[in-house]
Amino acid sequence: MTKKIALVTGDGSAPEMMAQAVRIVTHAARRDNVKIEFVDTPMGWNAYEKFGDTTPEKSMETAVNLGFVFFGGVGDPKFDKTIGAEKPEMMPEARALLALRKKMGLLLNFRPMILMRELAHLSPLRPELIPEEGVNMTFIRFLLEDSYFGTQDMLELVPPATAWDLGLKLKKDVTGNETLVSELAYYRGETIEKYFRMAFSYARNMGLPLTSVDKANVMARYAYWRKIVDRIAKEFPEVSYRHQLVDSANMLLFKPKELRGVIACGNEHGDILSDGAAEMVGGMGLMHSSAVNPDTMQAMFESGAGTAPTLAGQDKANPLGRILTGAMLLRHIAADNGAIAIEQAVRDVLKEGYRTTDIAEPGCTKVLGCSEMGELVLRKIL
Ligand code: IPM
Ligand code: MG
Repeated sequence: MTKKIALVTGDGSAPEMMAQAVRIVTHAARRDNVKIEFVDTPMGWNAYEKFGDTTPEKSMETAVNLGFVFFGGVGDPKFDKTIGAEKPEMMPEARALLALRKKMGLLLNFRPMILMRELAHLSPLRPELIPEEGVNMTFIRFLLEDSYFGTQDMLELVPPATAWDLGLKLKKDVTGNETLVSELAYYRGETIEKYFRMAFSYARNMGLPLTSVDKANVMARYAYWRKIVDRIAKEFPEVSYRHQLVDSANMLLFKPKELRGVIACGNEHGDILSDGAAEMVGGMGLMHSSAVNPDTMQAMFESGAGTAPTLAGQDKANPLGRILTGAMLLRHIAADNGAIAIEQAVRDVLKEGYRTTDIAEPGCTKVLGCSEMGELVLRKIL
């Protein structure tokens, strides 16, 4: 089988990390007789330099038509402060990444947080705080609506005069002279239902408990969310579930013995909590993630970490998060043998004590550059 996937190599150090991930994924897929054809899809400031647009129309078309995107990451402060200040509509986080999420209907964002007991020292937490069986959580972030898309979605619904009264402004329209800027955050009942049916099914299939994160004590959209969770939960009597307020969920990231299984959270909460969780299990460099449309099963594979712009061009960034994201891509297209091989190889190099600078501890076997780390992983799966 041949599978075509749009490849956004991205900005900053992302292209260096993606170069490693791409060759590893291509090799690993052969274990399942899958030939992956990556289709170059420029987005980000690199695309602006070549084509005058951080999201050229053709790139968006390629991504949406192929329905599968391997996304390295976009954004670079060097450009944000110069061209971005003059042309805020070109900021690639919204123009490329958020637009893809919305156009492709990527509702569920899976962010696994895994730490094996033997690698407990990768965590900044004291070893006794790490559970005996290690950490194994899957954050499922609700990736649409909420404060990320509220204003934009509502501006299509309310008349301009009302929008003006409400102080609704898109980021690109903020001048600094306004007296009021407000942003809408909303959830649609049907979307919450769909999201929780998928999240509960996932928890059931994996035999895991589910924690729903909210702020139902003060926010209407989360009081609504909580009522829907209780209703959908009745369809899944096998899954044990609980509600957790977001502030205390944040605190539990420091007590992983009390938090496990599926963590279902809103868009903005999920963005914030997942960075904390990633740091807890070893660092952003290991973060990996996939975003899925539950109706079409189209998907984007994006690590969720930044582009490490300060390391760009130095071959120092940690490619392991992008490589693990590649394993998620393979699993999604049923190339399970390849996915398992990659995960095993990454685990092995870490167990053998190889590190990149971001995760190196005193006394580790060897600190490697980005391409050396990629090479080591690749050799294990050849
Ligand atoms: C993430 C990132 C994005 C987000 C940014 C780059 C827009 O932080 O995927 O977590 O906020 O969703
Ligand atoms: Mg984030």
